[in-house]
Amino acid sequence: MGEVIEAGTLEGVASTTIKKLHKAGLVTLEAIAVTPPREIVELTGMGVDTAIKVNTLARLQVDPGFVSATDLLETRKHMMKCKTGSSEFDRIMGGGIETGVITEFIGEFGSGKTQICYTLSVLAQRPTEEGGLGGRVCVIDTEGTFLPERIVQIAESRGYDPQEILSNVLIARAYNSDHQIMLVKNLPQVAQEHDIKLVIVDSMIGHFRGEYIGRGTLAERQQKIGGVLGNLLRVAEAFNLSVVLTNQVQAKPDQAYGDPNKPAGGHVMAHACTHRVYLRKGRQNTRLVQVIDSPYLPEEKIRIAVTEAGICDEDGNTNMEYDPDMDYEEEFSLDIEEEVEEEDEE
Ligand SMILES: Nc1ncnc2c1ncn2[C@@H]1O[C@H](COP(=O)(O)OP(=O)(O)OP(=O)(O)O)[C@@H](O)[C@H]1O
Ligand SMILES: [Mg+2]
Repeated sequence: MGEVIEAGTLEGVASTTIKKLHKAGLVTLEAIAVTPPREIVELTGMGVDTAIKVNTLARLQVDPGFVSATDLLETRKHMMKCKTGSSEFDRIMGGGIETGVITEFIGEFGSGKTQICYTLSVLAQRPTEEGGLGGRVCVIDTEGTFLPERIVQIAESRGYDPQEILSNVLIARAYNSDHQIMLVKNLPQVAQEHDIKLVIVDSMIGHFRGEYIGRGTLAERQQKIGGVLGNLLRVAEAFNLSVVLTNQVQAKPDQAYGDPNKPAGGHVMAHACTHRVYLRKGRQNTRLVQVIDSPYLPEEKIRIAVTEAGICDEDGNTNMEYDPDMDYEEEFSLDIEEEVEEEDEE
């Protein structure tokens, strides 16, 4: 989450400026670094030059620009993965839904996109040693379809306290694209105040598609979507949290054979989302899941099921058992004990 900055943390920045930042909720280096100067001006009323200066200084402390591949690997070791509820699904995702990047779920109506969001809202709250992210969840609901009742049902089916789970899910209804843009801009503050580890936007471009109609508006629409995705990616990186987006499919024109659908949102979406997952309806309550154009995940097709307990394996297994592979802490404490013993011998 980062520490609360005090006067002197940013060299050459007056304490009155720090106070203004605090008042606007920009209390950590991470929050200042990910908030564009223009927004800092809007939030605090400080001059543009000062805003550029504090943003640049904060950015340099958080991210020095180029890093060695060794450091990058070290950073990626802090990356966490949230279990999905299905072991097969976890497997094709390389262990689960990663922090620090955007994962996109694409599919037609009823394909299970929102069901995955519900399940992750519950599972992300589990401690890391149980395959969760150990934090709270923030949902931007653009369709008014995100129902607390379903979270209660999934939590209860999995034996968790539904009231506790519910209290750790913050839901904001976005009424139009401008509202959605504003909610995403506020995410750095929300993430830091509430220890958010999973951000869900369901759905990412519904409002944009509905409001920007016709060829003439396409460039503006794509530019706005790109801006929102950029903000989301920065939040994912700065707070090491998972961002999950849902997206509809649209019909490909002139498609004579094969799958007639493609993800909506064009190159802007394709570029910003590290992992894109395609969902299709299968027989009964099953859904076919396939990762598409991922930099390192296999494009294998698997099947999951949607049940009362949310997402689970095709055979109904909810995968609640403890996974010893995830227990990094025990390994760590063993190391310490060995070291202590060696010292004792000396
Ligand atoms: N309690 C439940 N138990 C079992 N299956 C459920 C339950 N609730 C929903 N489902 C299944 O999930 C489906 C809805 O999936 P979901 O809401 O995730 O679709 P979506 O991909 O978000 O669609 P849209 O694009 O319309 O938002 C239902 O048709 C039903 O098959
Ligand atoms: Mg939905």
